[in-house]
Amino acid sequence: MKKLIDLLSEDVKQAFVSKGYEERFGIVTLSNRPDLCQYQCNGAMAAAKAYKKAPISIAQEIVEVLQDNSKIKEITAIMPGFININISDEFLAEYINNMRKSKDFGCEKEAAPKKIIIDYGGPNIAKPLHVGHMRSAIIGESLKRIFKYMGNDAIGDVHLGDWGTPMGLVIAELKRRKPDLIYFDEGYTGEYPSKAPFTISELEEIYPAASAYSKENPEFLEEAKRITFLMQNGHRGYMALWKHMQDVSVTDLKKIYDNLNVSFELWKKESDAQPYINDMVEYLKKNNYARISDGALVVDVKEETDTKEIPPFMVLKSDGATLYSTTDLATIVERMELFNPDHIIYITDKRQELHFEVLFRCAKKAKLVNEGTKLQFIGFGTMNGKDGKPFKTRDGGVLRLEYLIKMVTDEVYRKIMENRSIDEEEAKDIASKVGLAALKYGDLSNQASKDYVFDLERFTSFEGNSGPYILYTIVRIKSILEKFGDTGRSISPDMNILPAYTPLERELMLQITRFSDMIHAAYEEQAPHRICQYIYDLADKFSSFYHETKIISDDNSDERQASLICMITMVHDILRTCIYLLGFEAPDRM
Ligand code: ARG
Repeated sequence: MKKLIDLLSEDVKQAFVSKGYEERFGIVTLSNRPDLCQYQCNGAMAAAKAYKKAPISIAQEIVEVLQDNSKIKEITAIMPGFININISDEFLAEYINNMRKSKDFGCEKEAAPKKIIIDYGGPNIAKPLHVGHMRSAIIGESLKRIFKYMGNDAIGDVHLGDWGTPMGLVIAELKRRKPDLIYFDEGYTGEYPSKAPFTISELEEIYPAASAYSKENPEFLEEAKRITFLMQNGHRGYMALWKHMQDVSVTDLKKIYDNLNVSFELWKKESDAQPYINDMVEYLKKNNYARISDGALVVDVKEETDTKEIPPFMVLKSDGATLYSTTDLATIVERMELFNPDHIIYITDKRQELHFEVLFRCAKKAKLVNEGTKLQFIGFGTMNGKDGKPFKTRDGGVLRLEYLIKMVTDEVYRKIMENRSIDEEEAKDIASKVGLAALKYGDLSNQASKDYVFDLERFTSFEGNSGPYILYTIVRIKSILEKFGDTGRSISPDMNILPAYTPLERELMLQITRFSDMIHAAYEEQAPHRICQYIYDLADKFSSFYHETKIISDDNSDERQASLICMITMVHDILRTCIYLLGFEAPDRM
């Protein structure tokens, strides 16, 4: 379906043409004076320059032509040459009825759908998840849903970190604590036990302990590195332990992501890219893309136009060891081979920006991707505490994701229990849904690249610009609809939304018509915060309208009653679609 603003533009353009001006002057925009009009056209000013005329007289000519246009209720020329437009209530109602009858509210999908791999989440096995991983998961999930909604083939890959020194550290620490484990018996040739010699909580305790210990004991760090090297080169016992770590971690991660309403099409790991490394290195050497620098293998990616220092891309260290960058380059090779995507997007903390810049340049230069393959990095900012510093636990440690979620859910639970008597089980279920909305909306309502302040009070508030407020609106509309169902009155399918009765109703209807504009903006700008802005306005406009309107009343004629029910149903459905795209859901009641 065409956008309302485009339909309006078409008519205004025609008016310009009919008066002998170029079509391009007829572009309509949203009004920046909503108190005066809903839309405006500033083309008369530009046309005045081109045709050497007074802007106001051009504006008046256009107004003249459009005076009786059925889409327009009122059109006026304002000094020095603005054209202010208020659309007619009939046109508005007709447009909304068309939206209702169209799939996805008439939102037009991507004309040339793409295959897009989104690399997000990025947890590391054996290492606890922190807030940065949460942001990646939240933003990535929402973007993926938006891409899919627009008709693309979007594939989420968790890209598990399973190939670095952390694995070696855990194994070294395990060896220190339990040297008798069969995995450390170099002479053992039998099968290893299928059950891991640690639980997830043990594993999560081991890594920080090992990491701290390694900082004070260089020999221990050396040992961990040696173990990492052996593990990566097929040491049976270490490989078996590594496999256990993977299994235990993945089981736990799946649970955590499930609770976050985040899911991945692919559970690929850094280690999956390792088989591609040898051939890749050969290829880079053979085609003279790579050179030796101080013993290391590098690819130069600097360009003359660079204004900042761009280091070369590191393929191999001087001792031949592979790095995070090596794995990422090999992963590109792997992805091209397995999926041949049009576009790969990486979502991490913006501190990794340079790494990705250099990686992309190398992949392009060495032609490891196609000419048209788009490689993109989306870097997000830090979640800060109210003191403006990165959010920490009370004792100053790195905040673990589970604690953060628990903190938010507990606060919501407290609020739910505060002034109501409600079954504890149900309250817990509600709190987990509302808590997730609080957290995700609090995050996604900011532009991703910006830092933001985690404000528990504001995020969990049932009023104002918050996730819980949006859910509250959905639940409220749902309960009105149920109440209507109880009256026994029904709506015949041919009934429609009527032209607005009041200015607030018109406001609400106008906001509904902006759905496609908003989705397209969120998609093009890759900006979930656009959705948040839109639904906050929609919920707010609904609330104002609701306060002045008796939705269910015997005084309403059948047509009016049907119109109101159809309209709030639409608001409800749009809100639900939007929260789905943000990655959370509404409880049945609140
Ligand atoms: N595991 C990494 C981390 O914790 C993030 C991985 C991001 N994805 C990638 N392909 N490098 O920082």
